[in-house]
Amino acid sequence: MPVEFKVNGKDVAADVPPNTLLSTFIRENLRLTGTHRGCDTAQCGACTVIANGRAIKSCNVLVAQMQGADVTTIEGLAKPDGTLHPMQAAFKECHGLQCGFCTSGMILSAVDLLQHHPKATESEIRALLEGNICRCTGYQNIVKAVQTVQKQATAA
Ligand code: FES
Ligand code: FES
Repeated sequence: MPVEFKVNGKDVAADVPPNTLLSTFIRENLRLTGTHRGCDTAQCGACTVIANGRAIKSCNVLVAQMQGADVTTIEGLAKPDGTLHPMQAAFKECHGLQCGFCTSGMILSAVDLLQHHPKATESEIRALLEGNICRCTGYQNIVKAVQTVQKQATAA
């Protein structure tokens, strides 16, 4: 099945079997391995990417559904010169990660969260990140990172 879309600002054209998952395509065809696969059943959020401005679980979407879409993976979040996105910088600063397995998905979900809920309270942030599971951090520093970016945006 032919499909054309954008990933991290670059045009992608492929001819894939119709049952190809977006997560598989991103990792195995595009070699963008920052998108992780944990459960493959839309539970853990490790495979989260942003498609057309919304965070989605790429293990639960077919490449064929991406026709014309604009997709951002964790590799596309920093600036071309390597400057981290504010959410990446805040996760680093606040120690919002340990093993890192959940981190790319968590950061992309957090970006989506503040884009659509810029005034989210702490409990709302926790609820909105429910689809992303972290086995390491206890979430404290993840929430702190999100609140740090939230405060920066308010101060700007
Ligand atoms: S690998 Fe997609 S949600 Fe777990
Ligand atoms: S940092 Fe290890 S799973 Fe989140």
